[in-house]
Amino acid sequence: MPATTDTKWNAHLYDDKHAFVFKYGEDLVKLLAPSIGEEILDLGCGTGHLTQLIAEAGADVTGVDSSNEMIEKARAAYPGLHFRVASATDLPYNQAFDAVFSNAVLHWVLDKELAIDGVYRSLRPGGRFVLEMGGKGNNDQVLLAIRKVLTRHGYYTNAATQRWYFPSLGEYTSLLEKRGFLIGYASHYDRETRLQDSEQGITDWIRMFCSDFFSNIPEDILNGLLEEVQDMLRPTHYRYQAWWADYKRLRVAATKQ
Ligand code: BEZ
Repeated sequence: MPATTDTKWNAHLYDDKHAFVFKYGEDLVKLLAPSIGEEILDLGCGTGHLTQLIAEAGADVTGVDSSNEMIEKARAAYPGLHFRVASATDLPYNQAFDAVFSNAVLHWVLDKELAIDGVYRSLRPGGRFVLEMGGKGNNDQVLLAIRKVLTRHGYYTNAATQRWYFPSLGEYTSLLEKRGFLIGYASHYDRETRLQDSEQGITDWIRMFCSDFFSNIPEDILNGLLEEVQDMLRPTHYRYQAWWADYKRLRVAATKQ
Protein backbone atom coordinates (compact mmCIF):
# COMPACT_ATOMS: atom_id res chain seq x y z
CA MET A 1 0.00 0.00 0.00
CA PRO A 2 2.77 2.54 0.46
CA ALA A 3 3.85 4.29 -2.67
CA THR A 4 6.45 6.98 -2.39
CA THR A 5 6.61 8.44 1.09
CA ASP A 6 9.43 7.97 3.58
CA THR A 7 6.91 6.47 5.97
CA LYS A 8 8.33 3.59 8.01
CA TRP A 9 5.76 0.86 7.55
CA ASN A 10 4.88 -1.66 10.22
CA ALA A 11 3.91 -4.68 8.13
CA HIS A 12 2.91 -6.68 11.22
CA LEU A 13 0.56 -4.02 12.61
CA TYR A 14 -0.87 -3.82 9.08
CA ASP A 15 -1.65 -7.54 8.83
CA ASP A 16 -2.68 -8.01 12.47
CA LYS A 17 -5.02 -5.08 13.02
CA HIS A 18 -5.72 -3.45 9.65
CA ALA A 19 -6.56 -6.44 7.50
CA PHE A 20 -9.72 -4.61 6.43
CA VAL A 21 -7.57 -2.67 3.94
CA PHE A 22 -7.00 -5.75 1.78
CA LYS A 23 -10.30 -7.40 2.76
CA TYR A 24 -12.20 -4.48 1.22
CA GLY A 25 -9.82 -4.69 -1.73
CA GLU A 26 -11.12 -8.15 -2.62
CA ASP A 27 -14.17 -6.47 -4.05
CA LEU A 28 -11.92 -4.32 -6.25
CA VAL A 29 -10.33 -7.48 -7.68
CA LYS A 30 -13.82 -8.39 -8.93
CA LEU A 31 -13.96 -5.09 -10.80
CA LEU A 32 -10.52 -5.88 -12.27
CA ALA A 33 -11.85 -9.28 -13.42
CA PRO A 34 -8.40 -10.79 -14.07
CA SER A 35 -8.25 -13.61 -16.57
CA ILE A 36 -5.88 -16.49 -17.29
CA GLY A 37 -2.54 -15.45 -18.74
CA GLU A 38 -3.04 -11.70 -18.39
CA GLU A 39 -0.01 -9.76 -17.20
CA ILE A 40 -1.04 -7.53 -14.30
CA LEU A 41 0.81 -5.05 -12.10
CA ASP A 42 -0.34 -4.71 -8.47
CA LEU A 43 0.80 -1.19 -7.65
CA GLY A 44 1.36 -0.75 -3.90
CA CYS A 45 0.89 -4.43 -3.13
CA GLY A 46 1.72 -4.18 0.60
CA THR A 47 2.01 -7.67 2.10
CA GLY A 48 0.80 -9.29 -1.12
CA HIS A 49 -2.63 -10.66 -0.21
CA LEU A 50 -4.42 -9.13 -3.19
CA THR A 51 -1.51 -10.00 -5.49
CA GLN A 52 -2.13 -13.63 -4.51
CA LEU A 53 -5.88 -13.27 -5.12
CA ILE A 54 -5.19 -11.92 -8.62
CA ALA A 55 -2.75 -14.78 -9.25
CA GLU A 56 -5.42 -17.30 -8.20
CA ALA A 57 -7.47 -16.16 -11.19
CA GLY A 58 -4.65 -17.41 -13.41
CA ALA A 59 -3.06 -14.03 -14.17
CA ASP A 60 0.69 -13.49 -14.27
CA VAL A 61 1.01 -10.81 -11.62
CA THR A 62 3.85 -8.62 -10.35
CA GLY A 63 3.53 -6.80 -7.02
CA VAL A 64 5.44 -3.57 -6.41
CA ASP A 65 5.67 -1.50 -3.27
CA SER A 66 8.00 1.24 -2.06
CA SER A 67 8.40 -0.38 1.35
CA ASN A 68 11.19 -2.96 1.77
CA GLU A 69 9.47 -4.29 4.86
CA MET A 70 6.19 -4.90 3.04
CA ILE A 71 7.93 -6.59 0.09
CA GLU A 72 9.96 -8.84 2.42
CA LYS A 73 6.75 -9.96 4.13
CA ALA A 74 4.99 -10.47 0.78
CA ARG A 75 7.88 -12.63 -0.53
CA ALA A 76 7.88 -14.73 2.63
CA ALA A 77 4.10 -15.27 2.45
CA TYR A 78 3.90 -15.93 -1.31
CA PRO A 79 7.29 -17.25 -2.51
CA GLY A 80 5.83 -18.28 -5.88
CA LEU A 81 4.91 -14.71 -6.85
CA HIS A 82 7.05 -11.94 -8.24
CA PHE A 83 7.55 -8.88 -6.00
CA ARG A 84 9.75 -5.85 -6.45
CA VAL A 85 10.53 -2.66 -4.51
CA ALA A 86 9.53 0.30 -6.70
CA SER A 87 8.03 3.73 -6.24
CA ALA A 88 4.72 4.72 -7.85
CA THR A 89 6.41 7.84 -9.21
CA ASP A 90 9.26 5.91 -10.81
CA LEU A 91 7.75 2.78 -12.34
CA PRO A 92 10.36 0.95 -14.45
CA TYR A 93 7.93 -0.48 -17.05
CA ASN A 94 7.04 0.27 -20.65
CA GLN A 95 3.93 -1.32 -22.22
CA ALA A 96 4.52 -4.40 -20.07
CA PHE A 97 1.05 -5.04 -18.63
CA ASP A 98 -2.53 -5.72 -19.68
CA ALA A 99 -3.82 -4.15 -16.47
CA VAL A 100 -2.64 -2.11 -13.50
CA PHE A 101 -4.43 -2.65 -10.20
CA SER A 102 -4.04 -0.35 -7.19
CA ASN A 103 -5.80 -0.51 -3.83
CA ALA A 104 -5.47 2.10 -1.05
CA VAL A 105 -2.21 3.54 -2.35
CA LEU A 106 -2.57 6.51 -4.63
CA HIS A 107 -3.61 8.95 -1.90
CA TRP A 108 -0.03 8.61 -0.57
CA VAL A 109 1.34 9.96 -3.84
CA LEU A 110 1.34 13.76 -3.79
CA ASP A 111 3.00 13.80 -7.20
CA LYS A 112 -0.12 12.33 -8.73
CA GLU A 113 0.55 13.27 -12.38
CA LEU A 114 3.86 11.38 -12.23
CA ALA A 115 2.12 8.25 -10.89
CA ILE A 116 -0.62 8.43 -13.55
CA ASP A 117 2.02 8.87 -16.23
CA GLY A 118 3.95 5.84 -14.94
CA VAL A 119 0.81 3.70 -14.99
CA TYR A 120 0.00 4.90 -18.49
CA ARG A 121 3.48 3.98 -19.74
CA SER A 122 3.34 0.59 -18.00
CA LEU A 123 0.17 -0.40 -19.84
CA ARG A 124 -0.21 -1.78 -23.33
CA PRO A 125 -2.71 0.08 -25.56
CA GLY A 126 -6.22 -0.87 -24.44
CA GLY A 127 -4.88 -1.85 -21.00
CA ARG A 128 -7.03 -1.36 -17.88
CA PHE A 129 -6.32 0.76 -14.83
CA VAL A 130 -8.47 -0.27 -11.87
CA LEU A 131 -7.95 1.69 -8.68
CA GLU A 132 -9.35 2.56 -5.32
CA MET A 133 -7.97 5.37 -3.14
CA GLY A 134 -9.06 7.82 -0.48
CA GLY A 135 -11.49 10.34 -1.92
CA LYS A 136 -12.41 13.89 -0.98
CA GLY A 137 -13.33 14.12 2.72
CA ASN A 138 -11.63 10.83 3.59
CA ASN A 139 -11.24 10.45 7.36
CA ASP A 140 -11.63 14.22 7.66
CA GLN A 141 -12.75 14.23 11.26
CA VAL A 142 -9.94 12.00 12.51
CA LEU A 143 -7.33 14.04 10.65
CA LEU A 144 -8.86 17.28 11.98
CA ALA A 145 -8.72 15.96 15.55
CA ILE A 146 -5.04 15.06 15.10
CA ARG A 147 -4.30 18.53 13.76
CA LYS A 148 -6.17 20.19 16.65
CA VAL A 149 -4.24 18.22 19.27
CA LEU A 150 -0.88 18.83 17.58
CA THR A 151 -1.61 22.55 17.36
CA ARG A 152 -2.77 22.69 20.98
CA HIS A 153 0.59 21.23 22.04
CA GLY A 154 2.70 23.53 19.86
CA TYR A 155 3.46 21.18 16.96
CA TYR A 156 2.20 23.65 14.35
CA THR A 157 4.44 22.46 11.52
CA ASN A 158 3.41 18.85 12.01
CA ALA A 159 -0.23 19.90 11.90
CA ALA A 160 0.08 22.06 8.79
CA THR A 161 2.03 19.76 6.45
CA GLN A 162 0.07 18.24 3.59
CA ARG A 163 0.56 14.47 3.67
CA TRP A 164 -2.13 12.89 1.54
CA TYR A 165 -4.08 13.56 -1.62
CA PHE A 166 -7.81 12.87 -1.39
CA PRO A 167 -9.29 14.14 -4.67
CA SER A 168 -12.89 14.51 -5.77
CA LEU A 169 -14.19 12.24 -8.50
CA GLY A 170 -14.09 15.03 -11.08
CA GLU A 171 -10.56 16.05 -10.20
CA TYR A 172 -9.04 12.57 -10.45
CA THR A 173 -10.92 11.40 -13.53
CA SER A 174 -9.94 14.67 -15.24
CA LEU A 175 -6.26 13.93 -14.55
CA LEU A 176 -6.72 10.44 -15.98
CA GLU A 177 -8.50 11.76 -19.07
CA LYS A 178 -5.84 14.41 -19.58
CA ARG A 179 -3.18 11.67 -19.70
CA GLY A 180 -5.18 9.64 -22.24
CA PHE A 181 -7.37 7.29 -20.23
CA LEU A 182 -11.02 6.62 -21.05
CA ILE A 183 -13.14 6.37 -17.89
CA GLY A 184 -15.44 3.35 -17.89
CA TYR A 185 -16.58 3.44 -14.27
CA ALA A 186 -16.17 5.93 -11.44
CA SER A 187 -17.66 6.25 -7.98
CA HIS A 188 -17.07 8.27 -4.79
CA TYR A 189 -18.65 6.52 -1.82
CA ASP A 190 -18.81 6.50 1.98
CA ARG A 191 -17.38 3.44 3.66
CA GLU A 192 -17.75 3.59 7.42
CA THR A 193 -15.14 1.14 8.67
CA ARG A 194 -15.18 -0.69 11.98
CA LEU A 195 -11.69 -0.71 13.52
CA GLN A 196 -10.49 -3.96 14.95
CA ASP A 197 -9.46 -3.04 18.49
CA SER A 198 -12.48 -2.03 20.56
CA GLU A 199 -10.30 -0.20 23.12
CA GLN A 200 -7.51 1.41 21.10
CA GLY A 201 -9.02 1.41 17.60
CA ILE A 202 -8.25 5.05 16.84
CA THR A 203 -4.79 5.13 18.43
CA ASP A 204 -3.84 1.92 16.56
CA TRP A 205 -5.16 3.37 13.30
CA ILE A 206 -3.19 6.59 13.78
CA ARG A 207 -0.01 4.66 14.57
CA MET A 208 -0.47 2.62 11.39
CA PHE A 209 -1.42 5.30 8.88
CA CYS A 210 -0.51 8.68 10.35
CA SER A 211 2.90 8.15 11.92
CA ASP A 212 4.31 10.88 9.65
CA PHE A 213 2.46 13.44 11.74
CA PHE A 214 4.47 12.42 14.81
CA SER A 215 7.91 11.52 13.47
CA ASN A 216 9.81 14.01 15.69
CA ILE A 217 7.74 13.52 18.84
CA PRO A 218 9.15 11.31 21.65
CA GLU A 219 7.17 8.16 22.46
CA ASP A 220 6.21 9.22 26.00
CA ILE A 221 4.63 12.46 24.72
CA LEU A 222 3.12 10.69 21.70
CA ASN A 223 1.09 8.28 23.85
CA GLY A 224 -0.62 11.20 25.59
CA LEU A 225 -1.33 12.98 22.31
CA LEU A 226 -2.91 9.89 20.77
CA GLU A 227 -5.11 9.33 23.82
CA GLU A 228 -6.21 12.96 23.58
CA VAL A 229 -7.17 12.54 19.92
CA GLN A 230 -9.07 9.36 20.68
CA ASP A 231 -10.96 11.01 23.58
CA MET A 232 -11.87 13.93 21.31
CA LEU A 233 -13.42 11.49 18.82
CA ARG A 234 -15.31 9.33 21.33
CA PRO A 235 -18.67 11.14 20.95
CA THR A 236 -18.69 10.76 17.15
CA HIS A 237 -16.56 7.69 16.37
CA TYR A 238 -17.39 5.22 19.13
CA ARG A 239 -20.63 3.26 18.82
CA TYR A 240 -21.91 -0.28 19.30
CA GLN A 241 -18.82 -0.87 21.50
CA ALA A 242 -16.44 -0.26 18.61
CA TRP A 243 -14.37 2.48 17.01
CA TRP A 244 -15.28 3.57 13.48
CA ALA A 245 -13.37 5.50 10.82
CA ASP A 246 -15.14 7.67 8.26
CA TYR A 247 -13.57 6.35 5.08
CA LYS A 248 -14.54 7.89 1.75
CA ARG A 249 -13.30 6.03 -1.28
CA LEU A 250 -12.81 6.78 -4.94
CA ARG A 251 -13.10 3.79 -7.26
CA VAL A 252 -12.26 4.03 -10.96
CA ALA A 253 -11.88 1.68 -13.91
CA ALA A 254 -10.23 3.29 -16.94
CA THR A 255 -8.69 2.17 -20.22
CA LYS A 256 -5.53 3.36 -21.96
CA GLN A 257 -6.62 4.76 -25.32
C1 BEZ B 1 -6.61 5.89 4.22
O1 BEZ B 1 -6.10 4.86 3.80
O2 BEZ B 1 -7.79 6.13 4.04
C2 BEZ B 1 -5.78 6.90 4.96
C3 BEZ B 1 -4.42 6.78 5.00
C4 BEZ B 1 -3.70 7.74 5.68
C5 BEZ B 1 -4.30 8.79 6.30
C6 BEZ B 1 -5.65 8.91 6.25
C7 BEZ B 1 -6.40 7.95 5.58
